[in-house]
Amino acid sequence: MTEIFDAIKKSAIEIKNLIETGDTGKSTHENSTGDTQLKLDIASDEIIENIFKEVSSIKAIVSEEQEEIISLNKDGKYLIAYDPLDGSSLADVNLSVGSIFGIYENEFSGKNIVASVYVVYGPRVELVIATTDVKMYRLINNKFKFMQEIKLNEKGKLNAPGSTQNCWAPYHKKMIDDIFQDGYRLRYSGGMVPDLHQILLKGGGLFSYPGTTDRPKGKLRQLFEVFPFAFVYEKANGQAIDGFDRVLDVETTHIHDTSPCFFGSNEEINRVKKVYKENA
Ligand code: AHG
Ligand code: MN
Ligand code: MN
Ligand code: MN
Repeated sequence: MTEIFDAIKKSAIEIKNLIETGDTGKSTHENSTGDTQLKLDIASDEIIENIFKEVSSIKAIVSEEQEEIISLNKDGKYLIAYDPLDGSSLADVNLSVGSIFGIYENEFSGKNIVASVYVVYGPRVELVIATTDVKMYRLINNKFKFMQEIKLNEKGKLNAPGSTQNCWAPYHKKMIDDIFQDGYRLRYSGGMVPDLHQILLKGGGLFSYPGTTDRPKGKLRQLFEVFPFAFVYEKANGQAIDGFDRVLDVETTHIHDTSPCFFGSNEEINRVKKVYKENA
């Protein structure tokens, strides 16, 4: 998989340069999930696709910005699903954005994810690789340097509650309120990469993006947002669930399927399971 990690590092450096110099405006196209694509979304997708085309071990790719699976090498071993620029609508206000990659074998499904990688483009560029463990690298003088291993504590202090509050179920709203009453601090930028990265580096907490009245299956997309981070959180001693069970066990019927999702350290996730089991 080294070849794939090197390709991702190369694309991260190109995307960092694109974000620094590119136009943050909208295009006239919509993607499969109905987002109006920014010029940055399209350009970062092209960067990754062109780099992945040169990697012989990649069999096929799926991108947030493409309708269909793209076949690359029929003898390739790996399938990659990616979100080229997560949180792209935050680039114009200079908040952190990211890229997310899920690496699968045999088929695109939560059960078949074997590694994941994400990149944070912030004041510094950081790259996290999850295989059997979770390692963070930082871009220094155009090279990714190993910084630290990432492990969550059993309990954290941060609460990142996503989606539109007036569409929350009453028990979900009560759960989030109770968590704040217990002293947790609000940390939500609207970019899942920096929000989940912060929880991982500060020891733990909860990130939630529930099903809502307007979107019962949530907003975040399984193959290139939910599953890659679920894999990271599990390998970092945390958990990722759909409210009830491991989100990596949720079936995928279409490549752009979404799922409600909760990521966190053990104590917070066990709390969510209890509330959802008793109320949902
Ligand atoms: P993208 O920019 O790739 O379409 O994804 C944005 C996602 C995710 O990063 C974030 O957590 C979520 O959208 C924020 O949604 P809300 O504004 O509904 O909280
Ligand atoms: Mn989008
Ligand atoms: Mn995204
Ligand atoms: Mn995106």
